[in-house]
Amino acid sequence: MRTYRIAAIPADGIGPEVIDAGLEVLDALAARAGFGLDVTRYDWGSDRYRRTGALMPADGLDQLRGMDAIYFGAVGAPDIPDHVTLWGLRLPICQGFDQYANVRPTRILPGVTSPLRDVGPGDLDWVIVRENSEGEYAGHGGRAHRGLPEEVATETAIFTRRGVERIMRHAFAIARARPAKHLTVVTKSNAQRHGMVFWDEIAALVAADFPDVAWDKELVDAMTTRMVRRPASIDTVVATNLHADILSDLAAALAGSLGIAPTGNIDPERRFPSMFEPIHGSAFDITGRGIANPVASFWTAAMMLEHLGEAAAAASLMAAVEQVCAAGIMTPDLGGTETTAGVTRAVVDALRGAN
Ligand code: NAI
Ligand code: MG
Repeated sequence: MRTYRIAAIPADGIGPEVIDAGLEVLDALAARAGFGLDVTRYDWGSDRYRRTGALMPADGLDQLRGMDAIYFGAVGAPDIPDHVTLWGLRLPICQGFDQYANVRPTRILPGVTSPLRDVGPGDLDWVIVRENSEGEYAGHGGRAHRGLPEEVATETAIFTRRGVERIMRHAFAIARARPAKHLTVVTKSNAQRHGMVFWDEIAALVAADFPDVAWDKELVDAMTTRMVRRPASIDTVVATNLHADILSDLAAALAGSLGIAPTGNIDPERRFPSMFEPIHGSAFDITGRGIANPVASFWTAAMMLEHLGEAAAAASLMAAVEQVCAAGIMTPDLGGTETTAGVTRAVVDALRGAN
């Protein structure tokens, strides 16, 4: 039997709640689909930071290196600065494993109401591809003269030809594999005339290798308007680390809730394990109440299965999730009254009922 080694890192807040739900559904699915999952659970995160001063052990990446994939919850705690938690766990994994493509599918699931008037399933079906290794989040910059009136802080965006070209190629390839074969390249090349003009130039170069993919350009501010006013004009999107971070939160909200949206931090060359996670954070406001929406975690699991080559299992998982949403079995963020456990049970039942 095919067995995949999965590292589960539930981490903080609702992370453990939604990752447990996801593992339960994956178990039910694996039994039916005929593959095995060998799950190793890591207690990395803010609790570990409070105990030991580090979110993950010094040899953390070595522990993960032999895994087939990483299934990640969320990191962040109210009493620890966010830049400490983010740079202490999630970013070292993304950067250490060169997971340079952050892929974020968004669509309106059946039964889910978009906040956009007259927009339903089929009208909004996007994949946002976020550059995940450099740009505005490269960590390049510093502070001098701390606390003095002349204090300065710099946060320099880094764009390299290698970095921009590889994300552009990956985005064009994703667009090519989708029915619409359309890519929108998002920049801010009117105001940011170095790095963003560089993006536009590289987009044009790479486009020549994908003559069957139609593409257009949009400035990031105009893109927010287009997402709201003409969602059906968008299919695949590529943007910088910062721009796509913001656009994909908007995308998730337009599709109904942050609680349904998944993401993959992908190493397309498969030199390292890729990491899959819901896009939402640790949601302190609902932690421990049993009402976290597990759909993002399920969709994340489906992306992970697809990456592992289990496309049929991924499709049955999404079909089960859609069936449950269509039946109105939803958590309060989607307007429903169900609990995390209730939605999870319904998805497991739908999987058992399938074929
Ligand atoms: P958040 O995503 O945790 O929450 C934003 C809002 O969405 C909250 O009202 C929350 O209840 C709701 N929400 C999120 N996920 C939900 C779900 N599955 N079901 C129902 N409702 C859901 O973002 P926020 O509040 O800005 O950040 C909280 C913490 O999470 C911070 O420490 C932040 O740094 C961290 N964070 C971590 C991320 C990661 O690990 N990748 C991503 C985003 C934030
Ligand atoms: Mg974000």
